[in-house]
Amino acid sequence: MRLIFLGPPGAGKGTQAERICSTYGIIQLSTGDILRENRRNGTELGKLAQKYMDAGELVPDNIIIDMIKAELQKPALKTGYLLDGFPRTINQALALDSLLEEMNQKLDAVLILEVPNEELIKRLTARRTCKSCGKSYHLIFNPPRKENICDVCGGELFQRDDDKEEPILNRLKVYENQTKPLINYYTEKSIAKYINGVGDIDEIFTRIKAILDKV
Ligand code: AP5
Ligand code: MG
Repeated sequence: MRLIFLGPPGAGKGTQAERICSTYGIIQLSTGDILRENRRNGTELGKLAQKYMDAGELVPDNIIIDMIKAELQKPALKTGYLLDGFPRTINQALALDSLLEEMNQKLDAVLILEVPNEELIKRLTARRTCKSCGKSYHLIFNPPRKENICDVCGGELFQRDDDKEEPILNRLKVYENQTKPLINYYTEKSIAKYINGVGDIDEIFTRIKAILDKV
């Protein structure tokens, strides 16, 4: 199964991706997670991406497209994948279309997670992320069992630099202007599936499962 996960910052893409990937045996490919890992490891790519990410701006298309090209060639992805946070511009979507054609692959669905801005801001301002595995928590809605410690790997939790007020507001604006047009793009291709992203985390997963079981 090959999927795209589209939705504004804080919609719950990462949270639901974990459940989707373990249920359907596919691999999560999060461009945000890959960029953060590069930053942690101090690579050239990480250094290049830093200033854009911290300001809540998009990293330039050519950098992201080269990165995803390399990722999609990995043998582990043969069983299927979920693209989380890519594509995010029409140019990225067009590049993905050509890549898929070259690889003789087709997408099964584009999941669109819909959440209103007031809720996104509440989710992002109190999000905490694991330094080692990247898992997301929320201080109130989805807290770890032990304060500041990741349930899964025992890593330390931190607040992402782009989860402060100014970058959050910028990320929402960037989503509106540059990423939202992709909803029409995929709706016209008849592969867009809309999901109400408000409610309990398990309840939202049940909505997603109902769609994926029919794909
Ligand atoms: P990225 O890491 O992709 O961030 P994002 O799109 O802003 O999305 P988030 O990861 O913030 O949100 P999410 O939807 O995964 O929500 P989560 O599950 O964590 O990108 C970061 C940056 O990298 C970009 O700004 C850009 O600079 C760069 N970048 C990445 N990809 C790029 C690309 N393709 N092109 C160019 N630049 C790129 O949940 C959020 C919070 O809500 C958590 O606290 C969670 O616990 C909580 N929560 C989840 N579900 C619920 C629920 N149902 N109810 C209550 N709380 C919930
Ligand atoms: Mg995420």
